[in-house]
Amino acid sequence: MSRRRFLAANWKMHKTIGEAVAFAREFLPLVKGADAEIAIAPPFPALAALGEALAGSNVALAAQNVHDQPSGAFTGEVSTAMLADVGCAWAIVGHSERRSLFGETDEFIARKAAALFAAGLRPIVCVGETLAEREAGRTFAVLEAQLAGSLAAVPAARAAELVIAYEPVWAIGTGRTATPEQAQEAHAMIRTWLRGRFADAADAIRIQYGGSVKPENAAELMAQPDVDGALVGGASLEPASFARIVLAREGASS
Ligand code: PGA
Repeated sequence: MSRRRFLAANWKMHKTIGEAVAFAREFLPLVKGADAEIAIAPPFPALAALGEALAGSNVALAAQNVHDQPSGAFTGEVSTAMLADVGCAWAIVGHSERRSLFGETDEFIARKAAALFAAGLRPIVCVGETLAEREAGRTFAVLEAQLAGSLAAVPAARAAELVIAYEPVWAIGTGRTATPEQAQEAHAMIRTWLRGRFADAADAIRIQYGGSVKPENAAELMAQPDVDGALVGGASLEPASFARIVLAREGASS
């Protein structure tokens, strides 16, 4: 089954409105006609302006986070309807920084994913083990627990629209990338788990790799059979760099 490659930029807490719009101006011509799905997740304040800059292009707007409740006394939070209103098609949920720095649980992440589907958006659900967990031989157990918890409320009929990002915590922002073999091993395990949970829809679910993806390593990672794209942090902040990742092909990585 062929899955369309999906490259998403996670800008984290980087870029003002002006910087986001300037990025779009430079980036869009570089990826026009690219044979891949592309999304950018800027910080909340830049969503509206970036959305306008991306309008009519082949690059979708994504959020980095969302709350599961429709409205109410949740200071500092943003609802799915607000994201839909500003033009988001996607939201990242369960990023390891949200899990570790802001105490997000699998249960909360599952509610966010369900809320996104209910609002007509699609989640990119992040999972990944820490270095200590990997070294203790617990990678698969950790991933299974995160998948079971975070995907507990995905409607079966929408499963094919789900995107998973496998992001080993030890590779995020460290410059230490998983080898293509390590990535494929984890992605294959995730695919097997998805098959048990969602049957044939698992073959349509894109599994992105994330963690120090760069123009130099993107092609070999995405050449793996179960690596269907990438979630890119640091290397997505420069238009030329992210464009090279979008356009990366095995044997033509630079
Ligand atoms: P990185 O971040 O590419 O800077 O390692 C990836 C991520 O956290 O999504």
